[in-house]
Amino acid sequence: MNQQRTTFGSRLGIILATVGSAVGLGNIWRFPHTVGTNGGAAFLLVYAVCVLLLGFPVMMTEFFIGRHAKKNAAGAFKVLAPGTKWSIIGYNGILAAFLILGFYFVIAGWTLEYIFTSVTTSLDGKTVTDFEKEFTLFSSGIVRPLICTFLFICITHYIVSSGVKNGIERASKILMPMLFLIMTILCIRSLTLSGASEGLKFLFQPDFGKINSSTVLSAMGQAFFSLSIGMGCMITYSSYFGSKTNIQKTALQVTLLDSLVSVLSGMMIFPAVFHFGIEPTAGPELVFITLPNIFGQLSFGNVWACIFFILLAVAALTSTISLHEVGTAYIHEEYHVSRKRATLYVSLGVSVFCILSSLSFGVLKEATIFGLTFFNLLDFLTAKIMLPGGGMLICIFVGNRVDKKIIKAELTNIGSVPFYFFRAYYFFIKYIAPIAIGVIFLNELGLFKWIQTFF
Ligand code: PHE
Repeated sequence: MNQQRTTFGSRLGIILATVGSAVGLGNIWRFPHTVGTNGGAAFLLVYAVCVLLLGFPVMMTEFFIGRHAKKNAAGAFKVLAPGTKWSIIGYNGILAAFLILGFYFVIAGWTLEYIFTSVTTSLDGKTVTDFEKEFTLFSSGIVRPLICTFLFICITHYIVSSGVKNGIERASKILMPMLFLIMTILCIRSLTLSGASEGLKFLFQPDFGKINSSTVLSAMGQAFFSLSIGMGCMITYSSYFGSKTNIQKTALQVTLLDSLVSVLSGMMIFPAVFHFGIEPTAGPELVFITLPNIFGQLSFGNVWACIFFILLAVAALTSTISLHEVGTAYIHEEYHVSRKRATLYVSLGVSVFCILSSLSFGVLKEATIFGLTFFNLLDFLTAKIMLPGGGMLICIFVGNRVDKKIIKAELTNIGSVPFYFFRAYYFFIKYIAPIAIGVIFLNELGLFKWIQTFF
């Protein structure tokens, strides 16, 4: 079965599909509002450290697992450690993929509504309050947001059920270059607004007083979420890599491109936010309330708005495809169900979560769990707990259970690609990454403050 397994068809396809998974709402919707609410440049610095020291090594480790085992997220652990409980890491990932899709599809659906309204209604003469009202009216509704969400689920469903080469790779090859092009245009537009330097200062001039334990957890969560790591997505995608794929180079390219898009989206949003005197701390609605307002005040505002939301939808689609693939590959391979049927099970299962998350902006707003709405709970649970936790376990597993020689052979394509820093990498995943993630968790739980009370 392993020998007949499909792979991505070309090197470019691999890069685009993997970057496509990493680049998404996490970069363009989640990153700016997380930077905004966590104090700007100081957060960006901690984020960069998390990406480099945790994200990059964890991604390479996931690539190792996926390509070596050539299996889905849970199956891979069964191959590498048969008869043990380590596959629980894979199940954590598959569950995380379901939960992420449960809120991700809702936001992705909103992008469709905003594409539609930017074409059908004029932005002229509207104030911030108008945009706010429109957003609240739409997002707290029942039918319209649900239709948008289901539309997005259907598009993803169609592509994933078409398979790895025809669906995922072909879509990524068209969509990703389009995304870079549109982002660059919007970035140039924003940077040429007066007052752009204020936005750049907010993004790049750190105030270290703003770093605290929750900043660090948020930065780590954002890094894992944005790089699509800690939950088996990169394990699944790398299982489709060919034997000649250069894992080190691919991991580096994906990490750098993903970070570049996040910084680009910061540079696209913050100068404009400051130009129009909007609060950078606006939160999750930053994109959906403030940006249309910004577009409304530009000439050809509707065109800018339309382009922007198409961009957001495109970015979201390549990510929902990869999230969907985690569950689909698992069901398809482990239960020997046809690919089409596996896709259907995932789409139906995820729909239940999506309905609840979508309604949590309206009728279920008051139904909170631990003080969080269903939507926020899914976001918190996955980004801040399941992904970093999964990443920590992946490092512990590979660092302690897998023979060092096997790891080196896989990461160097059996010696044909040099790996100058292998010892440093190995030391990192065996000791530094798991300890660092553990310490960040414990710090957030208040353990160190508690210990201090004894001294
Ligand atoms: N990385 C994607 C984004 O930034 C989201 C994602 C998370 C995709 C986890 C796959 C796995 O939007």
